[in-house]
Amino acid sequence: MSGEGKVVCVTGASGYIASWLVKQLLQLGYTVKATVRDPNDPKKTEHLLALDGAKERLHFFKASLLEEGSFDFAVDGCDGVFHTASPVLLSSNADVVDPALKGTLNVLRSCAKSSIYQKAVALNGKPLTPDVTVDETWFSDPAFCEKSKLWYMLGKTLAEEAAWKFSKENRINMVAINPGMVIGPLLQPTLNESVEPILNLVKGVPCETNGWVDVRDVAKAHIQESENPTACGRYCLVERVVNHFGIFKILHGLYPDLNPPKEYSEEKASELTCRVSEEKAQSLGITYIPLEVSLKDNVESLKEKNLINA
Ligand SMILES: NC(=O)c1ccc[n+]([C@@H]2O[C@H](COP(=O)([O-])OP(=O)(O)OC[C@H]3O[C@@H](n4cnc5c(N)ncnc54)[C@H](OP(=O)(O)O)[C@@H]3O)[C@@H](O)[C@H]2O)c1
Repeated sequence: MSGEGKVVCVTGASGYIASWLVKQLLQLGYTVKATVRDPNDPKKTEHLLALDGAKERLHFFKASLLEEGSFDFAVDGCDGVFHTASPVLLSSNADVVDPALKGTLNVLRSCAKSSIYQKAVALNGKPLTPDVTVDETWFSDPAFCEKSKLWYMLGKTLAEEAAWKFSKENRINMVAINPGMVIGPLLQPTLNESVEPILNLVKGVPCETNGWVDVRDVAKAHIQESENPTACGRYCLVERVVNHFGIFKILHGLYPDLNPPKEYSEEKASELTCRVSEEKAQSLGITYIPLEVSLKDNVESLKEKNLINA
């Protein structure tokens, strides 16, 4: 097993993506130091404690993004740090900017090696059309995010910018993972904001056009990048860019009783949007789980946890 004898830290370990990351790390034999804000809250820890290998190799640490130095203990002695903790509130106000920005720097100050998840690529005001390919050279524009009141995206963009600067100045080996909208089955017992758009689609509420990627691939990419000595820079992860009519079309194929969203048409469902480059993700050895599988597994896991009646 590739992780035997290695110790890594996962910040915000009870989250949607981090829970899959912890699961895959334990499967590979890693010892995981997991940070949560409240280690005594069973909703945050029970699903992780039930994972194979958790009894022997999973350790919880209390840490909060806005408390300086609170990650020191968890990061100390680690071979790598996966920084996923961040308030994920797509419908947020400006209050989310500080935890994302200051919190990332706070974690980096405790770090030797860090990996960061971001939503910091495509929002620069350039129109996204079928002839456009978004790739790792794209950075969201903080001024555009602020003007558009996209506070979550602003926080993530500023956090990534500051993290690159800090890691260069302090010779920290940093890699950024930039997934699109993450979907797929949940391990944690509660809903997070990024799963809500799927729930809304099942209820017929529209959502924005997005690049979609499976949570299991996001976790896997993180581990592949950390185990690959030549990995560097940023990695965009998107299986497909599809608008909400296209997502409904796939869901309807799986669940024929679903009612279409307003103004749905086959034509609109197959409207082309931009592409996202796959080259760097492929260099990590990622072969994406198809969107159809991610959507089905997502809905089935929501049903299993009684979070949806589809
Ligand atoms: N989901 C997506 O579609 C998506 C797409 C692109 C990028 N990302 C990025 O991926 C990362 C994980 O996202 P996710 O969807 O897995 O989110 P999530 O399920 O909401 O998990 C985020 C975790 O961050 C922790 N957190 C929030 N505020 C904190 C604070 N002030 N101090 C310490 N911990 C705090 C929470 O930990 P507690 O359990 O302690 O409350 C939570 O478990 C985030 O950085 C997000 O921006 C997500």
